[in-house]
Amino acid sequence: MVGGTALAGQRWLVTAGPTYERIDSVRFIGNYSSGKMGFALAEALAEAGADVELVTGPTSLNITRQRINVHRVESAREMYASATEVFPSCRGAILSAAVADYRPAETADHKLKKQGDEGMTLNLVQNPDILATLGGMKSDKQTLVGFALETDNELQNAKSKLKRKNLDYIVLNSLRDKGAGFGVDTNKVTIIGRDGSRKESTLLSKQEIARLIVNTVTH
Ligand code: PMT
Repeated sequence: MVGGTALAGQRWLVTAGPTYERIDSVRFIGNYSSGKMGFALAEALAEAGADVELVTGPTSLNITRQRINVHRVESAREMYASATEVFPSCRGAILSAAVADYRPAETADHKLKKQGDEGMTLNLVQNPDILATLGGMKSDKQTLVGFALETDNELQNAKSKLKRKNLDYIVLNSLRDKGAGFGVDTNKVTIIGRDGSRKESTLLSKQEIARLIVNTVTH
């Protein structure tokens, strides 16, 4: 088990939480991520002696532990800028944020008013893929870990993400497992390595899951 000073001298990047994609001055597109999984990962890495750069979307969570540098961002593009800036100086990265794949093509700087009885159409454009970008930047000495939140064909989809994005590990959590995923204090994961290794957890607290992930990907 990793603990104490095993990761002393190593810097790790963690992404956490949701992203908010602004529609106008009062509305956004978001998701149900609370940040709990990512904050637990940052804590587990720091507990093992690492210095952590935690890039998080909007969340009410706070960090009390030392050696965790928190970068608070709102949108996917802000998270991308922050993560790509710190990654080159890191030994590895664990990307647990639920990043919006799309954002509104246009953002109004005032509150949009309802017009007539008609519906409204929002045009969306794609956000940059932070994980795939880090996969392209990665050196042989760096370890890159992604998450996959799936609802069907879980293993197959996770394995194809691992290959496509040039990852060392992917952590699969399924929305079909009760007590796993968004918001809750627990999770159930399968950690898949690029060498084909596979570790399955039972339903555990997010703190315990974080320690299991850190222990697996730093050995
Ligand atoms: O925050 P909690 O409430 O504790 O919930 C935790 C969680 C469910 C959010 C977490 O365990 C989790 O599954 N995070 C990944 C959610 C997700 O968006 O999965 P995905 O399959 O869409 O994305 C795959 C991977 O690519 C993820 O590592 C994601 O961070 C990354 N990604 C996705 C899109 C994008 N534009 N950039 C990215 O880096």
